[in-house]
Amino acid sequence: MYNFNEYLDESKKRWNTNASFWDDYMGNENNRFHRELIRPYTENLLGNVSDLSILDIACGNGNFSRRLAELGAHVVAFDFSMTMIDCAIKRSEQYKKNIQYKVIDATDYKTLLALGINNFDAAVSNMGLMDIADIEPLLEALQNILKPSGVFVFSVVHPCFQSPGMKKYLEQEEVDNNIITRSCIMLYKYKRPESHLGVGINNQPVATRYFHRSLSDLLRICFEKGFVMDALEEPSFTSNEDSAQFEWMEIPPVILVRLRKI
Ligand SMILES: C[S@@+](CC[C@H](N)C(=O)[O-])C[C@H]1O[C@@H](n2cnc3c(N)ncnc32)[C@H](O)[C@@H]1O
Repeated sequence: MYNFNEYLDESKKRWNTNASFWDDYMGNENNRFHRELIRPYTENLLGNVSDLSILDIACGNGNFSRRLAELGAHVVAFDFSMTMIDCAIKRSEQYKKNIQYKVIDATDYKTLLALGINNFDAAVSNMGLMDIADIEPLLEALQNILKPSGVFVFSVVHPCFQSPGMKKYLEQEEVDNNIITRSCIMLYKYKRPESHLGVGINNQPVATRYFHRSLSDLLRICFEKGFVMDALEEPSFTSNEDSAQFEWMEIPPVILVRLRKI
């Protein structure tokens, strides 16, 4: 299966450079994307986490780790960006008892295994897998470090609609006496795995390195590592904040998957 390991160091440098900008932007409350799409659906897929032991993969500034801690979970959270983990620790003073932060590269199988065999009830990765150069070691390790029947809930940008080179545009049509404005996308490629640069957050210092995998490539890795998928969500916004701006409403910008260890 395809991996993008040649970009690993470069990708880490980019995340270290952008870390404090991301931390300022996300803050404790996070952005609308997380608040309305990622967080509620992830919590729903995870179910009751009280007293569960949960691994937060590619945790960024730890915003979801803190949410899990508030819900009563015991969290181990990691990211390969030391600068991001520093930001997470600074924001998590009051959660010291419930969150342990670590700097770990998700492509490093041996270090992942050292997190403990059959050690976690669940794992989560919010908007992380499309930023990880090689996800096979992670899926393989999760088979070992999750408890029997443990779940892995992840979200990624929707690979079918946010593939490299995608263009967004607004179109208007006069229908009867109304002007209808629609948010549209245009794609010309999807199937081939590809690494590309993009704008994670507007005005961030340097571009984000993404790793595009088609839906079948992404899920094939999960199935080959022995997981079954037992839930899938494609949320989108239910209201438009500004009708003159592109808005993800009819087309879902993200996909959430729940995998189960069998
Ligand atoms: C889009 S951010 C998401 C952060 C957080 N989960 C959230 O939802 O706010 C992606 C994160 O993936 C991390 N990341 C990328 N590649 C990684 C790798 N190989 N190992 C661990 N973390 C990685 C980045 O440092 C960054 O913090």
